[in-house]
Amino acid sequence: MKLDLKPGTVSYIDAGKGPVVLLIHAFPLNNTMWTSQVAALSNRFRVLAPDIRGFGESQPASPWTMEEMADSLNEFLDELHVKDSAVVGVSMGGYIALAFWSTYPKRVRQLVLSNSRARADNDAEKNARNSMIAAIEQSGVAILPERMLPRLLQPNPPAGIVRDVRNMIGRTSPAAAIYAVMAMRDRMDFSSMLHRIVCPTMVITGENDVIIRMEDSRAVADAISGARFVTIPNSGHLSNLENPEAFNAALLSFL
Ligand code: MLT
Repeated sequence: MKLDLKPGTVSYIDAGKGPVVLLIHAFPLNNTMWTSQVAALSNRFRVLAPDIRGFGESQPASPWTMEEMADSLNEFLDELHVKDSAVVGVSMGGYIALAFWSTYPKRVRQLVLSNSRARADNDAEKNARNSMIAAIEQSGVAILPERMLPRLLQPNPPAGIVRDVRNMIGRTSPAAAIYAVMAMRDRMDFSSMLHRIVCPTMVITGENDVIIRMEDSRAVADAISGARFVTIPNSGHLSNLENPEAFNAALLSFL
């Protein structure tokens, strides 16, 4: 499905009927990373999964901040006449979900932060973002699979998952990737706001996630009153893709 919003055209999956679940994808992927969750949820929920600006089929790529992306999601829900939703974000999707909650808390019925963190980047992480931007400017997104796959997925990933993730990365334009890296580099620190989250929240970590370590996820869960903390076994950073059975079971039980 496609919808014209102020910043451009948003492409999205809209499947099922019932309370809305909004799925926000990770970097540098697109909404096809949610295929298994859409199948698992859409007989009980209305699942909305947009491609973030410039990714997948959402065009054009243009610079954004987490707060601007929250505004775009707000406009997206307005256009679809959706009052509130469970908001589920993996990694970059979790950063966006937190920004969305901070501006539009009444629209967040439940919150799921998967393989994500609340703190801002430290100096070393910002430097790594800058070197990634320089590398993409020089060589395009072709450098991303080699750089990222060993960290996105746990060791010895199944060939099918590697192929799917490579395909998603291959469809990402250099501009979209660069703007997202900038947005992640410049995102604000939400750590001191977590105690204000009052909606039911689940924090998910991957047993073998080396991008967002379990300690970072645990810190997020500890700071949110009553948050559920779930470890997805046998998974790295992309826990919803690497162990969809465990991820979907945790999600369904929480929702
Ligand atoms: C993601 O998976 O969305 C990104 O790797 C997150 C990050 O780089 O901070």
